[in-house]
Amino acid sequence: MIYYKTEAEIELMRQSALLVSRTLTEVAKMLKPGIRSLSLDKFIGSFIRDHKAIPSFLNYRGYPFNSCISVNDVVVHGFPNEEELKEGDIISIDIGVIKNGFHGDHAYTFAIGEISQPIVQLIRVTKEALYLGIAKAVAGNRVGDIAYAIQEHTEKKYGYGVVRELVGHGLGKDLHEDPQVPNYGRRGSGAKLKEGLVLAIEPMINLGVKEVYTEDDGWTVRTKDHKTSVHFEHDVCVRKNKADILSDYGPIEAAEKANPDLFSDYQTADVIVQR
Ligand code: MF3
Ligand code: CO
Repeated sequence: MIYYKTEAEIELMRQSALLVSRTLTEVAKMLKPGIRSLSLDKFIGSFIRDHKAIPSFLNYRGYPFNSCISVNDVVVHGFPNEEELKEGDIISIDIGVIKNGFHGDHAYTFAIGEISQPIVQLIRVTKEALYLGIAKAVAGNRVGDIAYAIQEHTEKKYGYGVVRELVGHGLGKDLHEDPQVPNYGRRGSGAKLKEGLVLAIEPMINLGVKEVYTEDDGWTVRTKDHKTSVHFEHDVCVRKNKADILSDYGPIEAAEKANPDLFSDYQTADVIVQR
């Protein structure tokens, strides 16, 4: 069952998405070598509650933390822990909130200090693929058009592994609504996109093979070859002529640039990353 949102509901969802953006912005200011992801998770929980919202991941199907923090070869759903982050680590931070009855759910990948050129490229290309997918989130297109755009830019053009087991999704009163939004697929296939459909589009792209496995904790998803994986996620509302991005990387990227402990020189193609 696909739910289309009214204009009033879309504005509420924008508030939820933007609270996640604000939380990610604060986290971007805190990132540095030596910090532990568990302390970030504690901050995330209190920041969300201070803003009259609920951290939606906590207890979702038994998930035991406020956020998912996925380092290096962890694709998604990493548990925050006591290990110190170090120079050269890349870290995906995925946060969900419920505010006014609606979910926000988005994510950003940061790099601590200097990282190797292949990983710089993987991060740049995954973010570009997210925006290329978003550009297809207009009424009249199909879910497969988003999927195809992401797969073309990552797998076909760069030979990266596109994770098959995990997908983007509809978003609303539930964290995961129909339709599923894979990061691979055929043009013109899948559900038709109509105005008011809100999607969480989230490419999960591996430097090496596409295969992943889940650890014994039941959550942590890692690449089979232990090469690096990158994850970006935006909340997007389908519109008639242009996708409406409800979440906002603007303040997150500003904080990333201003933090000397974070790498930020990606030179992502401006033509692609237009908001
Ligand atoms: N952003 C992820 C998703 O869309 C995280 C949810 S898993 C959770 O599925 F358990 F942490 F909630
Ligand atoms: Co999601």
